[in-house]
Amino acid sequence: MINRKELIKKYIEFFKSKDHKEIPNASLIPENDPTTLFISAGMHPLVPYLLGQKHPLGKRIVNVQKCIRTRDIDEVGDSTHHTFFEMLGNWSLGEYWKKQAIEMSFELATKEYKFPIERLAVSIFKGDKNAPKDTESEEIWLSLGIPKERIAFLGKEDNWWGPAGKTGPCGPDTEMFYWKLNNKPAPKKFNASDNNWVEIWNDVLMEYNKDKKGNYNEAKQKNIDNGRGVERILAVINGFDDNYLTEIWQPIIQKIETISGKKYGKDKKETKAIRIIADHIKASVFIIADGITPSNSEQGYVLRRLIRRSVRYGKEIGIKNFVKEIVEPIFNIYKDYPKLKNNKEKILQELEKEESKFLGKIEQGTRIFEKITINKKKISGKDAFLLYQSYGFPFEMTKELAKEKNIKIDKESFNQEQEKHQKLSRTSTEGKFKSGLADHSETTTKLHTATHLLLAAIKTVLKNKNIIQKGSNITRDRLRLDFNFPRKLTSKEKSKIEELVNAQIQGACEVVREEMPLKKAKEKGATGVFDVKYGEVVSVYTIKDCSKEICAGPHVKNTCELGTFKIKKEESSSEGIRRIKAILE
Ligand code: ALA
Repeated sequence: MINRKELIKKYIEFFKSKDHKEIPNASLIPENDPTTLFISAGMHPLVPYLLGQKHPLGKRIVNVQKCIRTRDIDEVGDSTHHTFFEMLGNWSLGEYWKKQAIEMSFELATKEYKFPIERLAVSIFKGDKNAPKDTESEEIWLSLGIPKERIAFLGKEDNWWGPAGKTGPCGPDTEMFYWKLNNKPAPKKFNASDNNWVEIWNDVLMEYNKDKKGNYNEAKQKNIDNGRGVERILAVINGFDDNYLTEIWQPIIQKIETISGKKYGKDKKETKAIRIIADHIKASVFIIADGITPSNSEQGYVLRRLIRRSVRYGKEIGIKNFVKEIVEPIFNIYKDYPKLKNNKEKILQELEKEESKFLGKIEQGTRIFEKITINKKKISGKDAFLLYQSYGFPFEMTKELAKEKNIKIDKESFNQEQEKHQKLSRTSTEGKFKSGLADHSETTTKLHTATHLLLAAIKTVLKNKNIIQKGSNITRDRLRLDFNFPRKLTSKEKSKIEELVNAQIQGACEVVREEMPLKKAKEKGATGVFDVKYGEVVSVYTIKDCSKEICAGPHVKNTCELGTFKIKKEESSSEGIRRIKAILE
């Protein structure tokens, strides 16, 4: 048996011994990337470096990164998909290429993790109109002793990764598979559609850049993006064919078993419910720890859905008001995440608050359901949708109640209503995903630099050196900066801040980037958000004597590029935290 901690340690140590530098595990909430809601792969925080910006720690990087994937939300409930997971990753930023990447992957798998070669197989990109067949990788695998019959050539659906958004770095990949059955030897020939072969490794050979028009252009810098999920490796390496049987799930599952009196693995439907509850609550804990609270938009909305979905599945196994209890083991399993421990109170409060809010909605929805169905044999699609949309009553519950009372639902008109609504909300969220991950466009770059000027101006005008950035979010239209300050700003203060920022812009100050050890940056008075996210060596951006901040960038070269700065809004973000939204014209 190997536990999660050892598994991660082995990985990091292995790549460190191959000259990789470890970078910290970033927040789940992308910093200054307006195009996606959550970090969904280890490569995500590295996009600027994959596109060619110099990384202060060099060209070989390794880490373990927490991720959230919500596109798999409906698949959650099987034995391998999770909303929250940890990804082990190693990268070559324009340095080593296929041969070294594959050789290291193979060495790690067979020597460190001791996967027997008789149980391994690989898949390689078979080629299409955008990129040729990858015979180079085939030769490398053959030279390492993977037999020809254990190599499959597959298309884009299987052997291509990225971009993570709509545009950006991507390329063919080569994946490693492991034969998971202990009691049956692996067949000679590899068949990727046989579920007993589990994908355990993904070496992405990032040699393309997808642009807005959908073209795959040869990338200026060729990178290796190598990733594997802790959850899956932990399962197969310990001989489990269900991820939930490992030590990072079992304590949570056992709690659910105790509260519900149900047994994991006994009944298919109940097992699915137990998995969903465990998965969603774990993800929710991590999302709250990274500063999000349930709401009706963006990350907060995803969080709300996760909590409510788990409450709903709780109902299926007959439990209610359970969140607080099953959360406890999560803090134990992930002791290495200080943010969990430090925010425990808040996490519990938010979860409980949302749970009881939703239970209230269920009661209310049930009452309204009773009302609108008095003396009726059918509920209209409009009414069913109203329950769902205006009262937050899940359609599944309307279905259940209808079944109990022998009432029919006009499903077709419900679907029509839903489609109408989805069209509307799609239009409003499209902006978020329009340009893709790699859109560190000119506008967002400018807003990024303006954020530094703004923070400096706030400190000067409010005469308070202890003000720090408490959050930042940039879209293509505006910047948003949160900072600690106990009261509303006066209009005089706001115009003074504006004036000061504009004076810096007109002063045409150069924006200078330097790399230095974190310690030195602090000594030099560089400010930053000093939690776990910085590496040993950091980039420091200096704008004359006005601002010195630790930051990953990107920034403009000179403040004169920014135009005119305007504050649009100043408001409270939470207790003791103010929020400014501003634009550049
Ligand atoms: N970025 C690759 C993945 O997510 C490694 O699978």
